[in-house]
Amino acid sequence: MCGIAGVASFHPIGDRLYDGVHHLEYRGYDSCGVAFLNHNHIEVRKDVGTVDEVDSKETIRHLVSNVGIAHTRWATHGKVTKENAHPHLSCRADFAVVHNGIIANYRVLRDELLKKGHRFTSETDTEVIAHLIEQGFLDCGDVERAWVNALAALDGSYALAMISIHEPQRIFCARHESPLIIGVGSESNYVGSDFNAFIEQTKNTVILEDGEYGIVSKDSFSVKSLRSGEVLEKAITVVPWDSELSRKGGYPHYMLKEIHEQPQAVRNALAIASEQINAVADTMEAAQRVRLLGVGTTYYVALLGQYLFATLAEMDVPAVSSDEFRYLDCSDAHSLILAVSQSGETYDTAMSLRHAKERGAKTAAIVNVVGSSIARMVDQVVLQGSGPEVCVVSTKAALAQMILLARLALEMGRRRGTVSPTKWSECEAALAALPGEIETLVNEKSGLIRAAAYRHAHVHNWLFLGRGVYYPIALESALKMKEVTYLHAEGMPGGFLKHGTLSLVDDQLYTLVFVPPPAAGELHALTMSSVEEVKARGGFVFGFIFDGHEDIFDERLVLTPTHELTAPFLPLVAAQLLAYFTATALKRNVDKPRSLAKSVTVA
Ligand code: AGP
Repeated sequence: MCGIAGVASFHPIGDRLYDGVHHLEYRGYDSCGVAFLNHNHIEVRKDVGTVDEVDSKETIRHLVSNVGIAHTRWATHGKVTKENAHPHLSCRADFAVVHNGIIANYRVLRDELLKKGHRFTSETDTEVIAHLIEQGFLDCGDVERAWVNALAALDGSYALAMISIHEPQRIFCARHESPLIIGVGSESNYVGSDFNAFIEQTKNTVILEDGEYGIVSKDSFSVKSLRSGEVLEKAITVVPWDSELSRKGGYPHYMLKEIHEQPQAVRNALAIASEQINAVADTMEAAQRVRLLGVGTTYYVALLGQYLFATLAEMDVPAVSSDEFRYLDCSDAHSLILAVSQSGETYDTAMSLRHAKERGAKTAAIVNVVGSSIARMVDQVVLQGSGPEVCVVSTKAALAQMILLARLALEMGRRRGTVSPTKWSECEAALAALPGEIETLVNEKSGLIRAAAYRHAHVHNWLFLGRGVYYPIALESALKMKEVTYLHAEGMPGGFLKHGTLSLVDDQLYTLVFVPPPAAGELHALTMSSVEEVKARGGFVFGFIFDGHEDIFDERLVLTPTHELTAPFLPLVAAQLLAYFTATALKRNVDKPRSLAKSVTVA
């Protein structure tokens, strides 16, 4: 949720602190700030607003220092105010901390510290940490011991970075259930919530685990066990992404760039070695119960997987939204939980996996971010290789995950005899053709979709209907519309409509219907009856269709017919574009929609 960056260097750090926190803004962007060593005191510059807004008022870029930490906030405890923005200082301003996570016992700790005379200036849970370290230092006179003792007193989740006037060359950092990594550079070292904090400086990272803390200075770093204080040998992970990939590259928004990158994301998903897919298939085959797990978009990805496993492999593999998983979890040693996560840091998904592991289940995951918490905690990981996805709204990562689930479902179907060799070859060919088909759609239909989006930007309520495998596509498309336009869009199975929601239909409610190709037979016919039901009540129906002869619609986007396996992905891409252009028509903050964050690392 929040983003943390830190630099210790032989050289001035202002521009790198600014870049670090700027590249992390997708994690949270309601306020930001920096703390740095200025001669023998800590200076804090912070305010509400984006990194650029705060920089223009407070000057982050040109600050003069060699050691500093920075933060961009997504508020949990306390309103969006300058006082609540991080960093937070202790009473004597000897210690400054930045934090991502939630300290569950902060009220108890604050009451104890108040009794000892500490004064608080914010409503945040984070501020107690600065005071706790200061109190520990007053008691023992040693920064590292005070740091370790403070961490031991915290309940909840944290990624933390701290600087102190008593150790002016060092940044202390630690994590518990929230990500934090160290960047190893030349004449500089870094801390960050993820690689983006220092992506332009170094690809060499050390990943902190729960129960460890790091001490970073300009020419060295060490990682120690929180329990024993012992120095730990840590491997360096080289990040395969470069900074060029995470720039906008001429597009007005990352969302549009990432929609355009989908052909490559699909190619990358198809290039993943079959051995990796087969290894997960082996575990699936051995398991008595398999569940697919995700939340938000990745829940819809998982739901699409459920349809693919049912239709291609005749397997019952329910998808569960990870925020609800713990209430439904019946896993045991014969279960496999297969999670899907772009960031690999989503709290709900990570906690669900932990829950299932504790019950003895095997775990696997499809993840985009190398070295992320989920990638490291599962028994088997498939790294989807989609490259950095910067826009808060997931597009290319989600599509690549769908492709990987399709590959897995095909493999299970092959093993179970439900996918014949001929069907296998047909499906392989269809998947191989998909990147080109998406390219054509994006190149040829963007103008039409843009015009439709601008024409209908006044519509406040949308119903997105789909049946069968087009149902998760409708749900995911509605989520895209909601999160980036702030308009109401409700995804629903076509057949469900007449069981209640039909009463909403009038000329103000617009309906987008995901119509399968006529070759889908009954699925097509039943979808068309939902169209009739809406039309009969005077509703406006926009059809994403594959057959140009169908003329019942008020408006149509005709897509090029393709194989039944890959056909649903074309209207999904069209719906991403519709959401994107509607958002631009409404002048929304496309890459950072209000109230959202890219990695949701809190419960
Ligand atoms: C996607 O557009 C959303 N921003 C959100 O639903 C996201 O998919 C969800 O939070 C899961 O994130 P993850 O893939 O990083 O685990």
